[in-house]
Amino acid sequence: MSESNGALIEMKGISKVYDTGKLQVEALTGIDLTVREREFVSIVGPSGSGKSTLLNIIGCLDTPTDGSYRLGGEEVAGFGGDRLADVRNRKIGFIFQSFNLLPQITAYDNVELPLLFKGTSARERKRRVEDLFERVGLADRMAHKPTELSGGQMQRVAIARALACDPDLILADEPTGNLDSNSGADILHVFQDLAEAGNTLLVITHDNAIAQRTERMVTLQDGRITGDGPV
Ligand SMILES: Nc1ncnc2c1ncn2[C@@H]1O[C@H](COP(=O)(O)OP(=O)(O)O)[C@@H](O)[C@H]1O
Ligand SMILES: [Mg+2]
Repeated sequence: MSESNGALIEMKGISKVYDTGKLQVEALTGIDLTVREREFVSIVGPSGSGKSTLLNIIGCLDTPTDGSYRLGGEEVAGFGGDRLADVRNRKIGFIFQSFNLLPQITAYDNVELPLLFKGTSARERKRRVEDLFERVGLADRMAHKPTELSGGQMQRVAIARALACDPDLILADEPTGNLDSNSGADILHVFQDLAEAGNTLLVITHDNAIAQRTERMVTLQDGRITGDGPV
Protein backbone atom coordinates (compact mmCIF):
# COMPACT_ATOMS: atom_id res chain seq x y z
CA MET A 1 0.00 0.00 0.00
CA SER A 2 2.79 2.39 -0.81
CA GLU A 3 0.38 4.84 -2.45
CA SER A 4 -1.41 5.42 0.86
CA ASN A 5 1.56 5.84 3.24
CA GLY A 6 0.13 3.41 5.77
CA ALA A 7 -3.18 5.30 5.95
CA LEU A 8 -5.88 2.74 5.39
CA ILE A 9 -8.80 5.16 5.74
CA GLU A 10 -8.54 8.76 4.58
CA MET A 11 -11.75 10.79 4.74
CA LYS A 12 -11.94 14.47 3.94
CA GLY A 13 -15.08 16.60 4.18
CA ILE A 14 -17.42 13.63 4.24
CA SER A 15 -21.11 14.44 4.60
CA LYS A 16 -24.19 12.29 4.38
CA VAL A 17 -27.72 13.52 3.83
CA TYR A 18 -30.58 11.02 3.94
CA ASP A 19 -33.34 12.18 1.63
CA THR A 20 -36.57 10.61 2.82
CA GLY A 21 -38.73 12.54 0.38
CA LYS A 22 -40.29 15.18 2.62
CA LEU A 23 -37.45 15.36 5.06
CA GLN A 24 -33.71 15.69 4.65
CA VAL A 25 -31.59 14.38 7.51
CA GLU A 26 -27.99 15.53 7.63
CA ALA A 27 -26.46 12.54 9.41
CA LEU A 28 -22.78 13.48 8.91
CA THR A 29 -21.13 16.86 8.36
CA GLY A 30 -17.53 17.64 7.44
CA ILE A 31 -15.96 14.41 8.66
CA ASP A 32 -12.16 14.34 8.42
CA LEU A 33 -10.77 11.01 9.59
CA THR A 34 -7.54 9.16 8.98
CA VAL A 35 -6.95 5.66 10.29
CA ARG A 36 -3.63 3.94 9.77
CA GLU A 37 -3.05 0.25 9.32
CA ARG A 38 -2.96 -1.71 12.60
CA GLU A 39 -4.88 0.90 14.62
CA PHE A 40 -7.57 -0.21 17.09
CA VAL A 41 -10.18 2.56 17.18
CA SER A 42 -13.49 2.99 18.98
CA ILE A 43 -16.23 5.28 17.72
CA VAL A 44 -18.47 6.57 20.48
CA GLY A 45 -21.37 9.03 20.73
CA PRO A 46 -25.03 9.20 21.67
CA SER A 47 -27.76 7.41 19.76
CA GLY A 48 -28.46 9.18 16.48
CA SER A 49 -25.06 10.90 16.35
CA GLY A 50 -24.14 9.22 13.06
CA LYS A 51 -21.97 6.29 14.18
CA SER A 52 -23.64 3.63 12.04
CA THR A 53 -23.84 5.97 9.07
CA LEU A 54 -20.09 6.59 9.34
CA LEU A 55 -19.29 2.89 9.70
CA ASN A 56 -21.51 2.01 6.73
CA ILE A 57 -19.65 4.50 4.55
CA ILE A 58 -16.26 3.30 5.82
CA GLY A 59 -17.39 -0.26 5.08
CA CYS A 60 -18.58 0.57 1.55
CA LEU A 61 -22.16 -0.39 2.43
CA ASP A 62 -23.24 3.16 1.64
CA THR A 63 -21.86 6.18 -0.18
CA PRO A 64 -21.34 9.73 1.10
CA THR A 65 -23.28 12.69 -0.27
CA ASP A 66 -20.10 14.74 -0.45
CA GLY A 67 -16.40 14.51 0.26
CA SER A 68 -13.46 12.24 -0.46
CA TYR A 69 -12.93 8.75 0.90
CA ARG A 70 -9.76 6.86 0.07
CA LEU A 71 -9.59 3.25 1.25
CA GLY A 72 -6.13 1.75 0.93
CA GLY A 73 -5.25 4.57 -1.47
CA GLU A 74 -8.27 3.97 -3.70
CA GLU A 75 -10.86 6.78 -4.02
CA VAL A 76 -14.19 5.02 -3.47
CA ALA A 77 -16.57 7.93 -2.68
CA GLY A 78 -18.00 8.00 -6.19
CA PHE A 79 -18.26 4.24 -6.67
CA GLY A 80 -21.61 2.71 -7.62
CA GLY A 81 -23.11 -0.50 -6.26
CA ASP A 82 -21.08 -3.12 -8.12
CA ARG A 83 -17.66 -1.57 -7.67
CA LEU A 84 -18.47 -0.79 -4.05
CA ALA A 85 -19.48 -4.42 -3.45
CA ASP A 86 -16.24 -5.56 -5.01
CA VAL A 87 -14.15 -3.35 -2.70
CA ARG A 88 -16.22 -4.49 0.27
CA ASN A 89 -15.75 -8.17 -0.49
CA ARG A 90 -12.02 -7.79 -1.00
CA LYS A 91 -11.17 -5.54 1.91
CA ILE A 92 -13.76 -5.50 4.71
CA GLY A 93 -14.98 -7.84 7.42
CA PHE A 94 -18.18 -6.89 9.27
CA ILE A 95 -19.43 -7.77 12.73
CA PHE A 96 -22.95 -6.70 13.70
CA GLN A 97 -24.85 -6.39 16.96
CA SER A 98 -27.33 -9.07 15.89
CA PHE A 99 -24.63 -11.50 14.59
CA ASN A 100 -26.42 -11.95 11.21
CA LEU A 101 -25.60 -15.66 10.98
CA LEU A 102 -27.64 -17.90 8.69
CA PRO A 103 -29.75 -19.96 11.13
CA GLN A 104 -30.35 -23.06 8.96
CA ILE A 105 -26.70 -24.02 8.51
CA THR A 106 -23.94 -24.95 10.94
CA ALA A 107 -21.42 -22.56 12.43
CA TYR A 108 -18.80 -24.21 10.20
CA ASP A 109 -20.86 -23.59 7.06
CA ASN A 110 -21.46 -19.95 8.04
CA VAL A 111 -17.72 -19.33 8.26
CA GLU A 112 -17.02 -21.29 5.07
CA LEU A 113 -19.56 -19.34 3.01
CA PRO A 114 -17.41 -16.28 2.15
CA LEU A 115 -14.60 -18.63 1.08
CA LEU A 116 -17.00 -20.53 -1.18
CA PHE A 117 -18.07 -17.26 -2.81
CA LYS A 118 -14.44 -16.33 -3.26
CA GLY A 119 -13.70 -19.64 -5.00
CA THR A 120 -11.19 -20.95 -2.46
CA SER A 121 -10.33 -24.64 -2.94
CA ALA A 122 -11.99 -27.25 -0.71
CA ARG A 123 -8.73 -28.22 0.93
CA GLU A 124 -7.77 -24.61 1.70
CA ARG A 125 -11.30 -23.86 2.93
CA LYS A 126 -11.14 -26.68 5.46
CA ARG A 127 -7.73 -25.62 6.70
CA ARG A 128 -8.78 -22.01 6.97
CA VAL A 129 -12.17 -22.57 8.66
CA GLU A 130 -10.68 -24.91 11.28
CA ASP A 131 -7.92 -22.41 11.97
CA LEU A 132 -10.46 -19.59 12.39
CA PHE A 133 -12.49 -21.61 14.90
CA GLU A 134 -9.31 -22.25 16.87
CA ARG A 135 -8.54 -18.54 16.88
CA VAL A 136 -11.94 -17.58 18.33
CA GLY A 137 -11.80 -20.47 20.82
CA LEU A 138 -14.76 -22.37 19.43
CA ALA A 139 -13.24 -25.47 17.82
CA ASP A 140 -15.63 -27.74 19.72
CA ARG A 141 -18.74 -25.99 18.41
CA MET A 142 -18.19 -26.01 14.64
CA ALA A 143 -20.99 -28.51 13.95
CA HIS A 144 -23.58 -26.61 15.97
CA LYS A 145 -26.27 -24.46 14.43
CA PRO A 146 -26.47 -20.84 15.59
CA THR A 147 -29.63 -21.56 17.65
CA GLU A 148 -27.62 -24.12 19.65
CA LEU A 149 -25.05 -21.50 20.67
CA SER A 150 -25.02 -18.73 23.27
CA GLY A 151 -24.96 -15.09 22.18
CA GLY A 152 -21.26 -14.79 22.92
CA GLN A 153 -20.54 -17.96 20.94
CA MET A 154 -22.63 -16.70 17.99
CA GLN A 155 -20.65 -13.48 18.00
CA ARG A 156 -17.40 -15.46 17.95
CA VAL A 157 -18.67 -17.37 14.91
CA ALA A 158 -19.50 -14.02 13.30
CA ILE A 159 -15.96 -12.82 14.04
CA ALA A 160 -14.52 -15.97 12.44
CA ARG A 161 -16.70 -15.33 9.39
CA ALA A 162 -15.57 -11.69 9.21
CA LEU A 163 -11.94 -12.89 9.21
CA ALA A 164 -12.46 -15.61 6.60
CA CYS A 165 -11.19 -13.67 3.60
CA ASP A 166 -8.37 -12.01 5.54
CA PRO A 167 -9.79 -8.46 5.35
CA ASP A 168 -7.65 -5.32 5.51
CA LEU A 169 -10.19 -3.76 7.84
CA ILE A 170 -12.54 -5.19 10.48
CA LEU A 171 -15.63 -3.14 11.34
CA ALA A 172 -17.95 -3.84 14.25
CA ASP A 173 -21.23 -2.01 15.00
CA GLU A 174 -22.14 -2.44 18.69
CA PRO A 175 -20.70 -5.99 18.77
CA THR A 176 -21.55 -6.47 22.45
CA GLY A 177 -24.93 -4.72 22.34
CA ASN A 178 -26.88 -7.99 22.60
CA LEU A 179 -24.56 -9.70 25.09
CA ASP A 180 -24.37 -9.93 28.87
CA SER A 181 -21.32 -8.32 30.43
CA ASN A 182 -19.32 -11.57 30.71
CA SER A 183 -19.84 -12.48 27.06
CA GLY A 184 -19.10 -8.88 26.13
CA ALA A 185 -15.78 -9.09 27.97
CA ASP A 186 -14.98 -12.32 26.08
CA ILE A 187 -15.63 -10.62 22.76
CA LEU A 188 -13.47 -7.70 23.80
CA HIS A 189 -10.61 -10.12 24.46
CA VAL A 190 -11.00 -11.56 20.97
CA PHE A 191 -10.77 -8.02 19.56
CA GLN A 192 -7.68 -7.30 21.63
CA ASP A 193 -6.06 -10.49 20.30
CA LEU A 194 -6.91 -9.43 16.75
CA ALA A 195 -5.44 -5.97 17.36
CA GLU A 196 -2.25 -7.49 18.77
CA ALA A 197 -2.02 -9.76 15.71
CA GLY A 198 -1.82 -6.63 13.56
CA ASN A 199 -5.39 -6.24 12.31
CA THR A 200 -6.96 -2.83 11.79
CA LEU A 201 -10.14 -2.60 13.86
CA LEU A 202 -12.93 -0.03 14.17
CA VAL A 203 -15.54 -0.68 16.82
CA ILE A 204 -18.68 1.33 17.44
CA THR A 205 -19.73 1.13 21.05
CA HIS A 206 -21.61 3.03 23.68
CA ASP A 207 -20.03 0.79 26.30
CA ASN A 208 -17.36 2.94 27.87
CA ALA A 209 -15.55 -0.12 29.25
CA ILE A 210 -14.95 -1.27 25.68
CA ALA A 211 -13.90 2.13 24.38
CA GLN A 212 -11.39 2.35 27.24
CA ARG A 213 -9.70 -0.84 26.02
CA THR A 214 -9.09 0.47 22.50
CA GLU A 215 -6.11 2.61 21.52
CA ARG A 216 -7.93 5.60 20.14
CA MET A 217 -11.39 7.04 20.69
CA VAL A 218 -13.30 9.07 18.10
CA THR A 219 -16.35 10.88 19.48
CA LEU A 220 -19.32 11.84 17.32
CA GLN A 221 -21.98 14.37 18.21
CA ASP A 222 -24.72 15.50 15.84
CA GLY A 223 -22.84 14.10 12.87
CA ARG A 224 -19.54 15.83 13.63
CA ILE A 225 -16.33 14.60 15.20
CA THR A 226 -16.02 16.35 18.55
CA GLY A 227 -13.15 14.34 19.96
CA ASP A 228 -10.33 12.18 18.62
CA GLY A 229 -7.37 11.02 20.63
CA PRO A 230 -5.49 8.23 22.38
CA VAL A 231 -7.30 6.40 25.15
N1 LIG B 1 -31.82 5.21 6.23
C1 LIG B 1 -32.03 6.37 6.86
N2 LIG B 1 -32.94 7.26 6.39
C2 LIG B 1 -33.15 8.44 7.01
N3 LIG B 1 -32.51 8.83 8.13
C3 LIG B 1 -31.61 7.98 8.64
C4 LIG B 1 -31.32 6.72 8.05
N4 LIG B 1 -30.37 6.10 8.79
C5 LIG B 1 -30.06 6.93 9.79
N5 LIG B 1 -30.80 8.07 9.72
C6 LIG B 1 -30.72 9.24 10.62
O1 LIG B 1 -29.39 9.69 10.61
C7 LIG B 1 -28.98 10.06 11.92
C8 LIG B 1 -27.76 9.22 12.33
O2 LIG B 1 -28.18 7.86 12.46
P1 LIG B 1 -27.16 6.68 12.81
O3 LIG B 1 -26.00 6.78 11.92
O4 LIG B 1 -27.94 5.40 12.78
O5 LIG B 1 -26.73 7.04 14.31
P2 LIG B 1 -26.15 6.11 15.47
O6 LIG B 1 -25.62 4.86 14.88
O7 LIG B 1 -25.10 6.97 16.13
O8 LIG B 1 -27.29 5.86 16.42
C9 LIG B 1 -30.19 9.89 12.80
O9 LIG B 1 -30.84 11.13 12.91
C10 LIG B 1 -31.02 8.89 12.06
O10 LIG B 1 -32.37 9.05 12.37
MG1 LIG C 1 -26.08 2.85 15.22
